[in-house]
Amino acid sequence: MNKVLIVGAGNMGEAMLKGWLKANNMLKQVYIREPNPSNWLKKIHNEKKILLNPSNIEGKIDVGIFAVKPQVAEKVILDTKIDLSKKSFVISVIAGKDFNFFAKVFDVPYPVVRVMPNTPVAIEQGVSAIIGNSFSSLSQVNWTEKLFNNLGKTVILEKESQIDAVTAISGSGPAYIFNFAETVIEIGKELGLSEQISKKIVLQTIVGAGLLANNSDKTPSKLRENVTSPNGTTQAALNILMDEKNGWHGIIKSAVFAAHKRSKILAKN
Ligand SMILES: NC(=O)c1ccc[n+]([C@@H]2O[C@H](COP(=O)([O-])OP(=O)(O)OC[C@H]3O[C@@H](n4cnc5c(N)ncnc54)[C@H](OP(=O)(O)O)[C@@H]3O)[C@@H](O)[C@H]2O)c1
Repeated sequence: MNKVLIVGAGNMGEAMLKGWLKANNMLKQVYIREPNPSNWLKKIHNEKKILLNPSNIEGKIDVGIFAVKPQVAEKVILDTKIDLSKKSFVISVIAGKDFNFFAKVFDVPYPVVRVMPNTPVAIEQGVSAIIGNSFSSLSQVNWTEKLFNNLGKTVILEKESQIDAVTAISGSGPAYIFNFAETVIEIGKELGLSEQISKKIVLQTIVGAGLLANNSDKTPSKLRENVTSPNGTTQAALNILMDEKNGWHGIIKSAVFAAHKRSKILAKN
């Protein structure tokens, strides 16, 4: 794909762009529309093959990547129609805007690939779930998968409704982990550690356990068992965390289900 237009370079748009520029292998000519470009974007757009807020784009673009808030999605897509041709396709990371929404806005059958990334894409450690509508080709979905593989891992979904589950798990998931970290850092302080030490051991434990689980051929359950000696310290904590009635399975399930429900409501509105 020669000409790619990114519309919206806020948190997510900029994080994706940073990863793609580092990988430096797929985007030949990048155009960006962003009313409030960051200092980083203002600085790099001259050095890289990027045209920031061009007054007009010569010819048509190959791919339009939309990373704006849902509230402005319709207007932004209508404004961008002029830059798209029958051969182009659209990638949308806009939460809650489903294929029906795009069908209404485009008014003609148009290829759209939805992607649900998460913020660790900023350090190429994200996970992005991908699904194309019935008008998108396998090569368009494959190209999208390759593009997002530069930002971490990808999964191809079987049906659009799975996007709500992904949103509730990996889309919002970094915030759950950050809240877990905040909580345990505070508890470390209550147990007599300095903020600095508590933060360091908590964050490295999350990183280390995540990497271990991701690189191991053992299941998370087996890895947990490996840390747990009978009647030891881990067992004492897990007796509380894994308690059938009051353990954290119930609270985590309620939280993820609440996010899932909210994702579906936002899609409807
Ligand atoms: N952040 C996440 O973890 C995450 C994860 C998955 C999906 N998403 C999705 O990604 C999208 C963007 O989220 P975000 O967190 O990056 O939001 P954001 O930081 O607010 O970024 C959106 C950007 O779009 C710009 N914009 C507004 N109107 C525009 C227009 N007409 N043309 C071009 N750009 C325009 C905004 O500029 P102004 O600030 O001037 O309005 C802003 O810089 C959302 O739909 C969200 O659902 C986000």
